Order: sequence, then structure tokens, then C-alpha cells
Amino acid sequence: MRIVLGVAGGIAAYKAVLLLRLLREQGHEVRVVPTRASLEFVGRATWEALSGQPVTTEVFEDVDRVAHVAIGKQAELVVVAPATADLLARAATGRADDLLTATLLVARSPVLLAPAMHTEMWEHPATVANVATLRARGVHVLDPDAGRLTGADTGPGRLPEPEAIAAAALALAADAGRPRDLDGVRVVVSAGGTREPLDPVRFLGNRSSGRQGVALARAAADRGAHVTLVAANVAPDVVAGAVPGAVVPGAVVPVEVVPVETGQELRDAVRAAAKDADVVVMAAAVADYRPEVVADAKLKKTGEPPVLRLVETVDVLRELVTDPPRPGQTVVGFAAETGDASGTVLEHGRAKARRKGADLLVVNPVGDGRAFGTPTNDVTVLDAAGDVVTTATGPKEDVAHAVWDAVRTHLDARTDGPPPAGTLRA
Ligand code: CTP
Repeated sequence: MRIVLGVAGGIAAYKAVLLLRLLREQGHEVRVVPTRASLEFVGRATWEALSGQPVTTEVFEDVDRVAHVAIGKQAELVVVAPATADLLARAATGRADDLLTATLLVARSPVLLAPAMHTEMWEHPATVANVATLRARGVHVLDPDAGRLTGADTGPGRLPEPEAIAAAALALAADAGRPRDLDGVRVVVSAGGTREPLDPVRFLGNRSSGRQGVALARAAADRGAHVTLVAANVAPDVVAGAVPGAVVPGAVVPVEVVPVETGQELRDAVRAAAKDADVVVMAAAVADYRPEVVADAKLKKTGEPPVLRLVETVDVLRELVTDPPRPGQTVVGFAAETGDASGTVLEHGRAKARRKGADLLVVNPVGDGRAFGTPTNDVTVLDAAGDVVTTATGPKEDVAHAVWDAVRTHLDARTDGPPPAGTLRA
């Protein structure tokens, strides 16, 4: 990818050297465009040596090659680190008084600004207004880190670490390249594993981490869907991965997260959200049974082997099919299977597809360290008749996109379904 790395005149410019190395190590072509003032902190020779490209700061250098237009036009991603208060002000007002601001006006690629300045400058109403203007225009402005600043003072204003800036920048570029084929589609995704209490301290649970469901929520949001994520006991750092705004502040697509604990809470939350939904994906591992009685106080040892009576829970997926909160919505189920003497993973999946009646069923083999808690998955998507629609193997993010590809194809094949891509419903 062709990346422009803008460097404004702040002490944190030295951290941009590491950012440049990180981007180069990942195989990207990086053109560094420093401001005049930033050369006081890191010199031209450093940038030229590490980027392998010529470095200019002014619009009037390389006039024969019209550098101020060419660099911005060719950019597939622009990152400015550090972005000083002055750079934010000039970018917000559309100035073009050096090569970096001229490049920002010409570029049509995603732009990520990583501010760094003293806390007072960051919190000044002028800077706050400039950041709001830039974000409203679709520029992604990271919030600075809080911590030790140049002198002895501390507070928000530190440049985020180069690794974090590189990750946010590359995620932004990857998102920009994705299709927005779920624009206007409302989806509900359940994720994680339910917990059925036995007493105030114990529960019956399962091994689901929620990663696949969170990846599905994120992938749908990235493709333009409005997403409600019903998260059953999913760790906060895993949930954070569902929300584009958590990676790049200022991103416009919201993901509403509804935390739940038990199967009953999950059922109520899914059905409430599904009233407005076009698609419901049941990726959560919902307990099939719960203790018949939940003790008010902690259960004590009695000396006898305890007998636990369990009662069946509501099958949320089955109920969505037989009694849909919104008629005509598309329902997607998951089936985690181990395979056994009576059948293979796929055979069990086929039988479940026919039994559950969901529009699509995503079958994945589990056990022996597969699927649960791992970053990868291996799935076969079946239709209601049990026929294979598609297969996908790899990172859970890629599997999530393959599932949405299958959902999109299913929506397109329906004549009574939700709107095609690009049409926003009221
Ligand atoms: N599911 C559900 N409500 C339940 C149990 C499961 O909605 N009480 C959903 C899961 O979210 C998943 C699908 O049903 O999408 C398949 O779950 P699974 O536990 O594999 O199905 P079961 O019907 O319980 O089949 P089995 O006989 O294999 O336990």
C-alpha cells in the first residue's frame, strides 16, 4: 500500500521514526512529508534513509513533478503523527501552506491523525472545535494517550504508541476497502456463553469466549449494518473488538452492546432487539438445561453426593423460526459439533439444519482445542435443507465475512426480504 506519513513539529516526532519502521516492515511504501518545523526534531536524512524516498516539505520543491498533487493523489492512506495543535488548525481550515496540508487537501484516501500536544492545548476550545470539524468531515482523529508529557507535567496529550497508531491506520485502510453491502440492514448477533446459576456463587456454563460472535458483529458493522450485539458473559476486551469506534474514534457505525448472563436474559434481549431486525445470528452457546431450583444461599457440603435436577431452557433459535419477532426476517444458527459414533460433524450439522429450520446454519467442529478460545475457526454453512452453501477456514474475522457473504446472497435471492445493499430504510 502507498502510505503518506505526515510529521508535524512536536517533540513526539521521534516516535514517528518507529512508526515508519513498522509500516515499512509490513511491506508498505511510505512517503514521509514532514513540516518545516518538524525537521528541528528529526532531520531530513533520517526520513530519507528509513523510507528510501526523497523528502520535501514545501509546495515549491519538485515543482516539475507537481509533488503537492501527485503525493496526495497516489496515497492509499495518510497518517499524520504527531499532529500538533497547529497542524489540526490548518487542516480544519483547509490551508495549503506547506506540502503536508496541500497533500491533505488532495488525498481522497482514509486519513488518520494522531495528535500530540500539551494538555492545555488539547483541551482548548479552539482545538476541540478543530477536532470536531475534522471528525465530522470523516477524518479519523485518535484521542491522545494520557501520561507523562515533555516536561514534568502529565495529562492527556501524549502521542499513542507507534504500534497502536500502525494498527489503527492499517485497520482503517482495510475497512475502507471492504464492500458496504449491508448498508441499512439491521442485524442482531448473540455471542458468548450463558451461565445458569446454581446458587449465588456457582453456575453451569460453557467454554464459548464470544470471539466468533464479536467478529460477526464487527464485520456486519464494517459492511454498513446497524448492529445489536447481545453478549453473554463476554470479556470486556473481547467485546471492545466489536465496536469500530473502539479502534478508531470518530468512526460512524455504531454497535449497540447488550450484556446478558442467563439463557432467559439472552432470549429476552434477542427477541426485543429482533423486533426491528432484518437478520438474527445466534452465535451464542446457550445452555440447553438450567438447574430447576436456584438456591438463595450458598449450597453447603452435605456428605452425600448431590443430585442436581435440570430443566430444559427455551430454544431461542427454534423459537425465532416458529414465532419470529418480525415476520420474514432471516435467521442464522450455529452448530458446534464434535462428531461421534452416530455421525460425523457434517452429518450432525445436516440433521440440525433440518430440525432447527433456520435459513442458514453455520456448522463448526469443536473439541481437541478447536474453535473455543482460539483466534481461528473452520466452518461449513448449510441452508435449511442441509445443503452446503459455502465453507470458510481461517481467522474468525475472515470466517465472519464469509458468513455475511452467504447472508447477503440469501437476502438477494429473496423477493420479500430486507432492502438490497445501498438502500437505507427509514
Ligand atoms: N440455541 C438456542 N437456544 C438454546 C440452545 C441453542 O438458541 N437453548 C441455538 C444456538 O445459539 C445455536 C443453535 O441453537 O445457534 C445450535 O445450538 P446447539 O446447542 O448446537 O443445538 P441443540 O439444539 O442444543 O442441539 P444438540 O442436540 O446438539 O444439543
